[in-house]
Amino acid sequence: MTETSPIVYLNGAFVPLADARISVLDRGFIYGDGVYEVVPVYQRQPFRMAQHLARLARSLDGVGMAHPMTDAQWMTTITELIARQPFADQAVYFQVTRGVAKRDHAFPKGVEPTVFMMSNPLVLPSQGQVERGVAVVTAEDNRWHRCDLKTTSLLGNVLMRQLAVEANAVETVMFRDGYLTEASASNVLAVIDGTVVAPPKDHLILPGITYDATLEVTRAAGVPLVVRPVTRAEAMAADELWLSSSTKEVLAITTVDGKPFGAGMPGPVFRKVYAAFQATKPH
Ligand SMILES: Cc1ncc(COP(=O)(O)O)c(C=O)c1O
Repeated sequence: MTETSPIVYLNGAFVPLADARISVLDRGFIYGDGVYEVVPVYQRQPFRMAQHLARLARSLDGVGMAHPMTDAQWMTTITELIARQPFADQAVYFQVTRGVAKRDHAFPKGVEPTVFMMSNPLVLPSQGQVERGVAVVTAEDNRWHRCDLKTTSLLGNVLMRQLAVEANAVETVMFRDGYLTEASASNVLAVIDGTVVAPPKDHLILPGITYDATLEVTRAAGVPLVVRPVTRAEAMAADELWLSSSTKEVLAITTVDGKPFGAGMPGPVFRKVYAAFQATKPH
């Protein structure tokens, strides 16, 4: 195993990344016809794996793909992938596509799905980002109406994320018809009058595993919490705004569209929930 060619999993075999090959007719390549997951791994222990596998099953069902493995098989394979990496904190990526077939939009018959997994070092926000918060830009959410499915068709999210990159920000926070949805690769939570307000997990946002984890620790810390739609005006006037994702954990937003947001520093509710979140991670 060399640093440039880590071990990945493809269709039943562990192989060096440089040797992993798929057909150009794979429907993941042609149509973005696939679903995926990203699981954070702390000290070789996956965080909330059962929840990620449940969401993968829901995504597979949602796009009409058969399940290529049982949960036990996913666990065994991912455990081996983790063990084969030289670093302890990882971000495991796994995806299933509808397989290789002559190009035709209709689902192909009798085709095996393509299953791919890789693991990269887990890059968490820097201490400076945690202590000072991060910048976001805002945009109208122009993605499709099944954002609850974690599909590899991510062009809408890619274009949104690029807006942030071009503005030296970490994320693009989106609004649809005047309501907060999520960010290009994160969920967004608000604090309004001391209460954490979370947009409902409907078809317009990804049901984030970190969103759930954050809500759990918020409740456990005795912080008031409500799940309800958040208007753009409420979000822009909130005391605090947070991002949540598997690789960002919980992160305070302190700049919006180039202007300081709220107090310009992570707020007291964030600091409390962040500390509680850290305490729940595997150590
Ligand atoms: C669009 C979108 N929303 C939310 C999230 C956060 O989900 P999770 O907390 O499960 O990582 C992600 C994660 O990548 C995402 O891509």
